[in-house]
Amino acid sequence: MAPATAPAAAESSSDWDNLAAEVRACVQCGLHATRTQTVFGVGNRSADLLVVGEAPGADEDRQGEPFVGRAGVLLNAMLRALRHPRETVFIANVLKCRPPGNRDPNPEEVRCCLPYLHRQIALLQPKLMLAVGRIAAQNLLATETPIGKLRGSVHRFGSEGTPLIVTYHPAYLLRSPGEKRKAWNDLVFVRRELARAAGAG
Ligand code: URA
Repeated sequence: MAPATAPAAAESSSDWDNLAAEVRACVQCGLHATRTQTVFGVGNRSADLLVVGEAPGADEDRQGEPFVGRAGVLLNAMLRALRHPRETVFIANVLKCRPPGNRDPNPEEVRCCLPYLHRQIALLQPKLMLAVGRIAAQNLLATETPIGKLRGSVHRFGSEGTPLIVTYHPAYLLRSPGEKRKAWNDLVFVRRELARAAGAG
């Protein structure tokens, strides 16, 4: 007899594939006209940790994968410091398409795209979420509180109350290396909370 978990696992893999196909075909906002391709997200679909960024940049738009440019190199180093290297986590963005010139996402683009991220979160059921940067943090938490005030606490996301921690965006840290110490403190905090959340089952 097949193990009791087999149908659920098969279902969940097709749910992921269906969602990825929907995102690939999306024309809900104007960004579809200027994208090279959508950037769905990448990583371990059973990850404990979900990292959420803002939107693809030029490198990501070209390669179809989040955080592959200079900010991605720093994010990878941050994840190694966390002892949860890139290949063990899932990485996604608020927007799946690149805003031209890397401008901030506008409210209409976020309104169209955020439900995809919410569906990714529902499929992944991460033990902890790390929002990198203001755009990810404010949109996930539906707040306009500045990022400096969102750092340093465990927020709760969604009906499951998934723990969510906020840190600076790696692109910001590249521009403001003096802030790296604060980001390091955030990572220590994430490591502790993730161990606690994973230990709790
Ligand atoms: N910045 C982001 O927020 N996401 C990416 O994928 C790349 C750069």
